[in-house]
Amino acid sequence: MIYLDNHATTAVDPRVVSAMLPLMTEHYANAGSVTHESGRLVAEQVVQATYSLASHLGAASDELVLTSGATESNNLALFGFALHPRQLRRKIISCVTEHRAILDPLQRLAQQGFEVVLLPVKQQGQSDAGLIDLNQLAQAIDHQTALVTIMLANNEIGAIQPLREIAALCARFEVALHTDATQAIGRMAVDVRDLNVDMLSFSAHKFYGPKGVGGLVVRRAHQRIRLTPQIVGGGQQGNRRSGTLNAPAIVAMARALELCAEEAEIERPRIELLRDRLYARLQAGIDGLTLNGPDLTQSAWRLGGNLNCGFWPVEGQSLMLAVPELAVSSGSACTSAEPRPSHVLQALGMLDDMARSSLRFGVGRFTTESEIDQAAAWLIQASRSLRQLV
Ligand SMILES: Cc1ncc(COP(=O)(O)O)c(C=O)c1O
Repeated sequence: MIYLDNHATTAVDPRVVSAMLPLMTEHYANAGSVTHESGRLVAEQVVQATYSLASHLGAASDELVLTSGATESNNLALFGFALHPRQLRRKIISCVTEHRAILDPLQRLAQQGFEVVLLPVKQQGQSDAGLIDLNQLAQAIDHQTALVTIMLANNEIGAIQPLREIAALCARFEVALHTDATQAIGRMAVDVRDLNVDMLSFSAHKFYGPKGVGGLVVRRAHQRIRLTPQIVGGGQQGNRRSGTLNAPAIVAMARALELCAEEAEIERPRIELLRDRLYARLQAGIDGLTLNGPDLTQSAWRLGGNLNCGFWPVEGQSLMLAVPELAVSSGSACTSAEPRPSHVLQALGMLDDMARSSLRFGVGRFTTESEIDQAAAWLIQASRSLRQLV
């Protein structure tokens, strides 16, 4: 099996597993049990992990709420902020290419009377395809706007949004800014102070940590960020998110982010080179192969490990079936028996047939050069045979 689906999830790094295991077998006490030494020991490890996580993101440790992952973080940011009793503004601005973990909560807020504006993105064929147009944001934002939520990096086409510029526009109208940074953390430098965002969501399993753990940074710099807790119970984390802390996963997540930072200088260019190699091989072997999303040469606009290509007239699903040893994603949301074309590719202005003919690749830490060559060879061969059938 060759795994090129690192945007869906990543393998847990063995060094992360090593950091995690003692908290499951030896130091398994509840971090809330500070009445005994075992509990205090775990609590101390959670404190250290929280400090490490926050500092790698440019935040203070009390600005980090630990959650079960980005979906929960996004729910807390959106519902918690919009539905706070002191929140009087009723408009939220986002973008058409957001993940469902943003779009679905927004749809619910719209049903509750919020005005939700989804900005379009630059169209396919432009070097910055997939990025929002700042002028359109400037036109939409006003003193009625409570929140702007724009993802940092897209999970299908790797488009990196201009968060600093977005933050400057938000500041002008005293609008809070949230970013879903799930795909960005571990893959590019992210610092909440530098980006000047108020809230930032992430999930550990996208950066070689375990599944089911993540966080929401809620900055103190801006006093207006008041969140209504979405999970209430034992009052953990200062009542911001109740529930027994998942200490093994939290310690593992911190270790995972430390490793990403330690290895960034070597790892990121290596992954980008492998991604470029994959694209070059596919391009050389497949006539009319198209690139979806921003130019690969624009590293400020596109994640280094991301590739999304159109294989028209061959369908992405058929290609995947023809190469069962390769783990990639069709970019389609298979929500029913009828696979729907990706809303992200549609937002780029692509016709449904083109969107259906696309595959998303995510190169990661454990991808090797020979895997890239083998994957390209399989895809070229499969696409040639399938073309004879269409
Ligand atoms: C951009 C983005 N946001 C949110 C999520 C949801 O993350 P999780 O499933 O870990 O809650 C994902 C994962 O697919 C994602 O790619």
